[in-house]
Amino acid sequence: MNRCTKINELKRFIHASRAEDKRVGFVPTMGALHPGHASLIEKAAQACEEVVVSIFVNPTQFNNREDFETYPLTIDKDLEVAQQAGATVVFAPHVEELYGGDLAVAPVDYGQLTLAYEGQKRLGHFDGVVAVVRKLFSAVEADAAFFGKKDLQQLAVIRRLAKEEFMGLEIVDCPLIRESDGLAMSSRNVRLVGESRQTALILYCWLNRIKKEVCNQGDIPTTLRAIESEAAEMEGLELEYIDVVNGSSFRPLHDGPVDSEAFAIVAAEVGGVRLIDNCALACS
Ligand code: PAJ
Repeated sequence: MNRCTKINELKRFIHASRAEDKRVGFVPTMGALHPGHASLIEKAAQACEEVVVSIFVNPTQFNNREDFETYPLTIDKDLEVAQQAGATVVFAPHVEELYGGDLAVAPVDYGQLTLAYEGQKRLGHFDGVVAVVRKLFSAVEADAAFFGKKDLQQLAVIRRLAKEEFMGLEIVDCPLIRESDGLAMSSRNVRLVGESRQTALILYCWLNRIKKEVCNQGDIPTTLRAIESEAAEMEGLELEYIDVVNGSSFRPLHDGPVDSEAFAIVAAEVGGVRLIDNCALACS
């Protein structure tokens, strides 16, 4: 596995693989790799001969300084995980290499997609995500880029970015990977200490409750209100939002048909750690 920190170096690897007609897959990450990330790399390795994994904790997408400063850094382990999962190149640039000392990013307006939910609760978050992913897409020049459904709204934002600015780049979505007890895997989970780890499971329970309700033709708004009241009573948990949306447009779906595009989404702070989760609602 090759490692590089400079765009020029990365481009040399990419151009060499292009010369050999290799398909290039790209998996952008912020490191602290866990099996969720590994599943993306494995999927990329099944479809592409060259698999670039970027590891870069992007300062412009953090709306909370403490979250940025305490973001876990585990580069040695990350290199092992990436290699094991099938990465052929790890690109781990320094901030200056991507931003050149200017961390100002342009605002992104994709309507509801960037305004609602994560966009509303984490002001400027998608501006930073789009800014860095645009830079990374330009640097890597991949045939396909792999993103997890764990960050469902981010995935929809990236699809829009690719449609507008990177025609020909295929965006591949990958399933959300969970711990055995249902908690969605996340680099931030290591910060869940004491009771918070157990409390965090309620997010998955709520999503399953909504799904059950939907499959029994129940009333979605009533279920959402019941969960909100329950959350308000809970210690150590601050619910930010829970809703049912179309997973592409992120418009709420309260009385429309629940089709394969319908998702329950949730965000909450548990013991000071911000968690998001979602689940598809289509009933089989
Ligand atoms: P990060 O949180 O490191 O996630 C990198 C990729 O791994 C994203 O596509 C994310 O959806 C996916 N991922 C994380 N946890 C997952 C899980 N439990 N199951 C499946 N996939 C999972 O998302 C980012 O980094 C950044 O915003 C980035 C796109 C790299 C831009 O900075």
